[in-house]
Amino acid sequence: MMRIYCVKDYDELSRAAANRIAAQVTLKPDSVLGVATGSTPVGMYENLVRMYESGDLDFSEVTTVNLDEYKGLGKESSQSYVYYMEEKLFSKVNLNRERTFVPDGTELDSEKACREYDEILAQVGPADIQVLGIGHDGHIGFNEPADYFPDGTHCVALDEMTIQANKRFFESEKDVPRESYTMGIGAIMRAKTILLLVSGEEKAGILKKALFGPVTPRVPASILQFHQDVVVIGDEGALKEITE
Ligand code: PGA
Repeated sequence: MMRIYCVKDYDELSRAAANRIAAQVTLKPDSVLGVATGSTPVGMYENLVRMYESGDLDFSEVTTVNLDEYKGLGKESSQSYVYYMEEKLFSKVNLNRERTFVPDGTELDSEKACREYDEILAQVGPADIQVLGIGHDGHIGFNEPADYFPDGTHCVALDEMTIQANKRFFESEKDVPRESYTMGIGAIMRAKTILLLVSGEEKAGILKKALFGPVTPRVPASILQFHQDVVVIGDEGALKEITE
């Protein structure tokens, strides 16, 4: 089942997303949270940190699993996803660091890195809730448009569109890593609940395609139509083509 919630703007989206995660952690303190990077969830993390600081939220028993990481980047690189998570969440709340998992970008043996991450995912179990953004090309995690839906963690070559979208975070385009490790579509689909966050008009077209177009690996997010519990929170811009 898919539920689509329309909120006014990015601030409301961030609050609503944080409230959904807070409800999850409050009702099940040892939840496994599937977490995401990118610009969309930044406000959600800010709200979660505030709730923690005011004593309303306790992360001490929570496990987190991240979707993806650039191959070749580790926590020393300010563009790595492990760095992002440290900055936005891990260092600001009382998570047990031994229970925060991100694919190891510093492991250059792709097969080994992916196998080890799959082992971790198998151990901690499916996420109770998986936060997702959507890329301009319909990717989720770094599952780019492809000929099939990959099940497990794998190494992907980033699409030109993704490189262009992400170059704003790097000094120059040539510094954007060309490969990343990402949780597979299968692992994402095993999450009990999916929380898809989408903000801004430039995502309106791809969001409509993903939610209402044909289910195809050419639009990886379209697989979510087959998930049993998807919560979409979109702002007016992102839902423009759906609500009109
Ligand atoms: P964004 O990325 O939140 O930075 O737009 C979303 C994504 O690529 O999944």
